[in-house]
Amino acid sequence: MTVFSREQKQHKKNEDLKGIFYLETYGCQMNVADSELVVSILNDDGYQQTFDYKQAEIVLINTCAIRDNAEQRIRNRLHVFTHEKKHKNLKVGILGCMAERLKEKLLDEEKSVDLVVGPDAYRRLPQLLTEVKSGKKSVDVALSKSETYDDLLPNRLDNNGVSAFVSIMRGCDNMCAFCVVPFTRGRERSRDPESILNEIKQAINDGYKEITVIGQNVDKYNWKNGKMNFAQLLEKIALLDNAVRVRFSTSYPQDMTDEVLHTIAKYPNICKYIHLPVQSGSTRMLGLMKRGYTREWYMDRIKSIRAIIPDCAISTDMITGFSSEMDADHQETVSLMKWAKFDYSYMFKYSERPNTFAHRNLPDDVPDETKGARLQEIIEIQSQLSLESNQRDVGKVFEVLIEGVSKRSAERLYGRNSQNKVVIFDRHNAAVGDYVQVKVLDCTSATLRGTLVTQSA
Ligand code: 5AD
Ligand code: SF4
Repeated sequence: MTVFSREQKQHKKNEDLKGIFYLETYGCQMNVADSELVVSILNDDGYQQTFDYKQAEIVLINTCAIRDNAEQRIRNRLHVFTHEKKHKNLKVGILGCMAERLKEKLLDEEKSVDLVVGPDAYRRLPQLLTEVKSGKKSVDVALSKSETYDDLLPNRLDNNGVSAFVSIMRGCDNMCAFCVVPFTRGRERSRDPESILNEIKQAINDGYKEITVIGQNVDKYNWKNGKMNFAQLLEKIALLDNAVRVRFSTSYPQDMTDEVLHTIAKYPNICKYIHLPVQSGSTRMLGLMKRGYTREWYMDRIKSIRAIIPDCAISTDMITGFSSEMDADHQETVSLMKWAKFDYSYMFKYSERPNTFAHRNLPDDVPDETKGARLQEIIEIQSQLSLESNQRDVGKVFEVLIEGVSKRSAERLYGRNSQNKVVIFDRHNAAVGDYVQVKVLDCTSATLRGTLVTQSA
């Protein structure tokens, strides 16, 4: 396995500069991780990154296709680069899920686009860019059953240097009726544990204090037919360094085992936080969504989390107004939220995606106002639940990993506790990357505010 160090990359970069690129990333953490690979691939080939698009000869946009409004946002953003192209020689590339969904069509629809590259074709970027620079338009949207970019060391894009994302699997085989991801990211495949652990060791050597392992459905992690499952991988990662926190995302209700929960409970450095998307509280809707579990099954998973990891925070995803959703279904979502007492929820109006099972078989028949009203209702309920959850933390002391300086005041720092809650407190001598003990004094629905107790290692 060839893994280049930062210094080697830098060296290569200076040898023969092929061009300057600017990269913008939309969508989920997986896209952030992919962008870090893209930067690595391009650096290795002699391209240099700029953070000011006006300096760039190549603009790349790593895109999301999960909802129509994600795509519209990207199309609007493209206008800026179309304008820029009028007075300079600029090449524009679309990467990621929207590239994969629209393929060649994107070249017809957006005349300013020169390059379309899907999530499994990033290794070919150097070659494709050479074609593009010679005046061609290039497309590579081939999906792979095996690509996991094992040997590539990402160039981390985050600027706090505290928290790193590491992809452990790619693709998704779940085929939920509403979701475009199986079409844009292809078949599920697990990454070699050795390369995962090597990447994490490197990140720890580089000073990262928190590793978030990511995949569309981490519970399906399966190396070589059962040689290693997610719980076993998580344990190996936790054992690397007990001063480094481990997070993971995203879990799937049908696949999340008690073995995983026991592993989380066993290791103090595995964060006590689970993101477990439910989508709806109605068994009828879950059936139509092809989620593969019922309301009762989901409730049972929550009960297991509470029993095995009593201090665990839980967040979820929710969709309002999926095909045929009635008020009775919506009320089931409301009652489930209140029962589960989610600490946080990501909530969305259903957006029909072309070629999904729902698009082909189920009418998008809930009026937009109804979707919106239901969304508003659950947002308000969640805001109250988050406030109550935070209020329960007032008076408690948490270990907080400091991520940065508060935007509002240079005298305040912010970080997260194990439960993934943002905690703000007065600076004193603490620094970004430190673990500190913070006592919570008060809160809003969004943050905890506290005071430094003592500083741990
Ligand atoms: N419409 C609205 N929300 C969606 N999600 C996925 N597909 C759609 C869609 N078509 C949401 C789900 C998922 C999260 C990542 O995005 O809640 O868990
Ligand atoms: Fe990520 Fe899904 Fe959006 Fe693709 S479509 S970027 S996988 S959230």
